[in-house]
Amino acid sequence: MTLQAADTVSSIFAPVSTPAAKEADLAKMVLVLSAAVFVVVAGLIAYSVVRFRASAGEQGTEPPQVYGSAQVEAAWTAVPVIIVIVLVLATARVIHEVQAAAQPPNAVEVTVVGRQWWWEIRYPKLGVVTANELHVPVSDSSVRRPTFLTLESADVAHSFWVPRLAGKTDLIPNKTNRMWVEPHEAGTFLGQCAEYCGTQHAHMLLRVVAEPPEQFARWVEQQRQKADTAPADSTAAAGARTFLRTACISCHTVAGTVATGRYGPDLTHLMSRATIGAGVAPNTRDRLRAWVRNPDDLKRGALMPAMQLDDEQLDQLVNYLLTLR
Ligand code: CUA
Repeated sequence: MTLQAADTVSSIFAPVSTPAAKEADLAKMVLVLSAAVFVVVAGLIAYSVVRFRASAGEQGTEPPQVYGSAQVEAAWTAVPVIIVIVLVLATARVIHEVQAAAQPPNAVEVTVVGRQWWWEIRYPKLGVVTANELHVPVSDSSVRRPTFLTLESADVAHSFWVPRLAGKTDLIPNKTNRMWVEPHEAGTFLGQCAEYCGTQHAHMLLRVVAEPPEQFARWVEQQRQKADTAPADSTAAAGARTFLRTACISCHTVAGTVATGRYGPDLTHLMSRATIGAGVAPNTRDRLRAWVRNPDDLKRGALMPAMQLDDEQLDQLVNYLLTLR
């Protein structure tokens, strides 16, 4: 499987989702106001420097000074106060609109759990569990289909940030945060953890696949299937036996087998994902084998241990993983 073409723009100024669009408008307004203040202040300084510079015979004397002008003081107090009030009101309004948005009955509900260093993604009402690649439906002008996220952490503080979809929201241990996205365009949007969370913080990448509702429904249907417990291929079957006999099963789940661990990503539909190691490498046979052989080679400090398998066991195990579609 090759990497799905992902959108490479990750700018907050190219929003494709309702909350991101509101925030981008606010950011633009703040930038324009700040730029106007800068131009006026810098312009006055430049004007004064030129206009009141000392001329040839004037060394050591000052131009006439103005003391205690009530009008000037009132003006330079009132104007900044008005600007600050405008900024406060505009910001409060956007924060309220984003945070207090009511959840429509047809909204998709997702629980995202931040972990060192990957994202656990659960759809409690749909019975789907995946990792690192969040699928959501696209809204159109007639039907809104937002996705409401419940954010939790299993270890330290993380932050969920997909710049084109919404502002960042932290995932804090023992606290539940909420946010929502509502993309209006199909596509794969990139994001990443935005709160330093340890050595592999920079490789805690995130993909959001926004797809038309029919395609999202097909994805859900496919993700709800249990894994094929008896692969036809004999090497894959040998790999399955290795997998089910080793410590793999205490950290990973493969639905329909004895593997029910939750410490690592759910592997039931591993091959439906474009990347491994939370976006650190494309999900190909070659990279998958390198990952299982020693995760540290691809992601130094990864919490998954190398299982000390020999070459034959590795090939068999990877053949088994390739059946997890
Ligand atoms: Cu998780 Cu930074």
